[in-house]
Amino acid sequence: MSTTRVIAFANQKGGVGKTTTAVNLAAYLAERSQDMLVIDLDPQANATSALGIEKQPGHSAYAALLEEGQLPGEVIQTAIKGLDLIPSEPDLAGAEIDIAQSEHYLHCFQKALAPLLAEDRYDYIFIDCPPSLGILTSNALTAAHTLIIPVQCEYLALEGLSIMTRIIEQLRTGGANPELTLDGIVMTMFDGRTRLALQVMEEVKKHFGERVYETFIPRTVRLSEAPSFGQPIMLYDPRGTGAQAYHALAKEFLRRHRSAHHSPFGEGGTTDPPSPERFGGQATDLSRVTRDDGHQTTDATEDETVKAEPTPPFSPPVAETET
Ligand SMILES: Nc1ncnc2c1ncn2[C@@H]1O[C@H](COP(=O)(O)OP(=O)(O)OP(=O)(O)O)[C@@H](O)[C@H]1O
Ligand SMILES: [Mg+2]
Repeated sequence: MSTTRVIAFANQKGGVGKTTTAVNLAAYLAERSQDMLVIDLDPQANATSALGIEKQPGHSAYAALLEEGQLPGEVIQTAIKGLDLIPSEPDLAGAEIDIAQSEHYLHCFQKALAPLLAEDRYDYIFIDCPPSLGILTSNALTAAHTLIIPVQCEYLALEGLSIMTRIIEQLRTGGANPELTLDGIVMTMFDGRTRLALQVMEEVKKHFGERVYETFIPRTVRLSEAPSFGQPIMLYDPRGTGAQAYHALAKEFLRRHRSAHHSPFGEGGTTDPPSPERFGGQATDLSRVTRDDGHQTTDATEDETVKAEPTPPFSPPVAETET
């Protein structure tokens, strides 16, 4: 049996740090001797460019999704030892339409993934999902063991989370993926200068308890610059606060995954499974959720530095000023 764990990085909200978290966490896990594969399942191909790989027409998961190719044949080595990538291409957007015609449209990616799992050559496969709950994301969630939801420390964060927990429930109870669990929530783009960021983090922790990773990711200019240089933060600015945060996140990830006590949501965790109803979630029909890919803006000014410099394990600093 394969020991590879498949983890989807998903949030229907755009610009919350899905790609940044998938790529940088994968890089630091590779540094810690984990065999890693990132599959870029977003036609925007941001994970592909963030890892310094040129988009090439015809090279993505597209053909394998349509049973016209094999995923292992699309694997590319990145500049980081132990970190491989299956790239994306803009044409992948067409897969949404092609797959929709298929009878087992939720299971196409699961089927495509089978040969990679059979090889058992990776410790973790991370799937970077697009900012929608369309066919590609639902295929990723059907194929995944668990899900990591990056959440921006922003107004309405809980609303987005309630939609995601509803989706997990639908996939579990509807039978598409009865084993799907929530690995955790990673709070991103934390700005210590705003009271809002702290309040959002507290609220999310109140509802999701230990499902929220203790390590949070600060908003830093370096993290936003790194993708345009095609480098994970580990190579671009290894000493900066962004790098420290993702390094700490990788350590916490491994600690949680190695701990016998880690029991993700849905496997009888020690906290109550978060219920969408508790924060007013509406039933969500996968086929009717529309794309939300506008990158979110924040009330806070884009930072130059994070004022309250966090030190691992990145407990929330007290906001010194309000904006
Ligand atoms: N901690 C951070 N500090 C500053 N900028 C960040 C941080 N994390 C991500 N960004 C930037 O914010 C933007 C959105 O991040 P990212 O692409 O990771 O989000 P996403 O959820 O994958 O977006 P999409 O929904 O479009 O796929 C990018 O320009 C990225 O470089
Ligand atoms: Mg993305």
